[in-house]
Amino acid sequence: MTTPITPPPWLDAALEFCTAKTRHNLATLSGFPERTEGGQWVQIAPDLHGWWVGGHWIGILWLAYAATGDPSLAAAARDWANRLLPRQPDQDDHDLGFLFELGFVLGCQLTGDETLKPPALQAAATLSKRYNPRGQFIQAWGLLDASPELRGRTIMDTMMNLDLLFWASKESGDPRYAEIAAAHARTTLTHHLRVDGSTSHVCDFDPETGAFLKQDTHQGLSATSCWSRGQAWGVYGFADCYRATGDPVFLNTSRRLMEHLWPRLPADLIPFWDFDSPLIPNDVRDSSAASVLASGLLNLASVETDPNLAGIWQSRAISILESLWQNYTSRQTGEASLLLHGTRSKPHNMMDHGLIYGDYYFVEALMRLSKPDLIIS
Ligand code: GLY
Repeated sequence: MTTPITPPPWLDAALEFCTAKTRHNLATLSGFPERTEGGQWVQIAPDLHGWWVGGHWIGILWLAYAATGDPSLAAAARDWANRLLPRQPDQDDHDLGFLFELGFVLGCQLTGDETLKPPALQAAATLSKRYNPRGQFIQAWGLLDASPELRGRTIMDTMMNLDLLFWASKESGDPRYAEIAAAHARTTLTHHLRVDGSTSHVCDFDPETGAFLKQDTHQGLSATSCWSRGQAWGVYGFADCYRATGDPVFLNTSRRLMEHLWPRLPADLIPFWDFDSPLIPNDVRDSSAASVLASGLLNLASVETDPNLAGIWQSRAISILESLWQNYTSRQTGEASLLLHGTRSKPHNMMDHGLIYGDYYFVEALMRLSKPDLIIS
């Protein structure tokens, strides 16, 4: 159900800032941007073909095209998307959804260019091979003959890669992709979700029997903590699953994750990197968790069956975006990223920087407000 949105008064200025900075970045980047150091983008080595973040940069270009109507931005997005083509058969990780949904499917939806579909279908076929039918999950990292630890590992982030599979079933008529995506989502809600509505970043399974072993973490504080970006990936991804399947368990799960985290946000609504950090309030934020959450809330509002709740999700999303716009953008600093104060991974000592995925979901959320009829699934 779509509830009409009143655009906030700062929306046009925020989008103009984003598109102007994107044009500047386009003129200066030679490789895919990932995070900032010293205010400048750290670029992904060419042989990584976008790593897991290439789609976010391309997605920003597609959305900048949609915001401005400037065909040179669509042409640039298409050029950058070509750099992802070597990843179609990549069996090393689960991130083909991030790469090909934003790099190709989004571009097809915004431009009608059907030639963008075949690479995304090929990537979905590759991603589906990561499914472990015994445990009913998609292996997050490593090759399919990697160590048992890697073959049995799932992460919250995979919730964002399922939409490529749902899309591939619709496009190809083969129900198997959607079945895999729905099965993985059910496994995630059974094992990552705790009774209080928080989630673990990681779960470990026995890859041979499929038996659940334990909750764990990689980028969060601990196995029992709630990593803020992971929780935001879940709000967004379970709403995608509800749109694709109509199964109310997924709508309820997205709501539950949201209701758990909302009272745990600080006054300015930008999460600390992990909700359970004992250092709060003297710890780093993750602006990318905030932008994922804002766009995820608008995604949830777009499928919400209860009009009152849809209005609440929209108004919370706008409040988060206003806080990002007022206090977390690079307007006053001239840094290359749109948002400041992201945290890639505090356990790996990478924090308080710009992140290209934080930027992407900020632009995506602004565009959901600016052009609600635009197709962003
Ligand atoms: N998907 C990796 C991350 O969220 O950092």
